[in-house]
Amino acid sequence: MRLHRLALAWLLGMALLGITAAALNAWWRGADHPIPPTPEKAAFELVTHRGDPVTEADFAGAWLLVFFGFTHCADVCPSSLATQARVLEKLGTAAPQLQPLMITVDPARDTPDVLAEYVTYFHPRIVGLTGSETRVREATERFRVYHDKGPASTDGTYEVAHSEFLYLINPEGEFAAMYPHGTGAEAIADDIGRQLSEAE
Ligand code: NI
Repeated sequence: MRLHRLALAWLLGMALLGITAAALNAWWRGADHPIPPTPEKAAFELVTHRGDPVTEADFAGAWLLVFFGFTHCADVCPSSLATQARVLEKLGTAAPQLQPLMITVDPARDTPDVLAEYVTYFHPRIVGLTGSETRVREATERFRVYHDKGPASTDGTYEVAHSEFLYLINPEGEFAAMYPHGTGAEAIADDIGRQLSEAE
């Protein structure tokens, strides 16, 4: 009986996840003017890969392209950081207005030093952010980011499941767009470029 309930809960959870992802994808594809995923403004209190404490206020006036992930991730994270780097290149002269950020969902392993080596490999302008478990959890809650640390294997390593969106935050700190994983750098750069010129 217990197993049946667990299986049912799992199926229900998977179905809900599927519905949510499908709805988000449909929303993004159909939206001329993207609506924010949350009425709140982006907020965080973290530490950069250079070891400096930062909040969203330190990036006031910039557009932010934010990704949540972790450096031990083998799949989605590297391609998302590569996308951030290509978006910067495609934005050309507008690139200085955009600040790409990677916020770790694995602060236990992603110290500032570990993050520094990781993010700068993809692009010197990407800033990695980490912090205490509490501060990282606060940031993920603010962005409505899902993350779930898996069980450790025999060698002590573990995976962290996480949301795979890139979030665009405008200079007022408002959510301006969400790009699902797999959205091409060209499409993202086009959308950001359009929003930048509309804001001028
Ligand atoms: Ni990942």
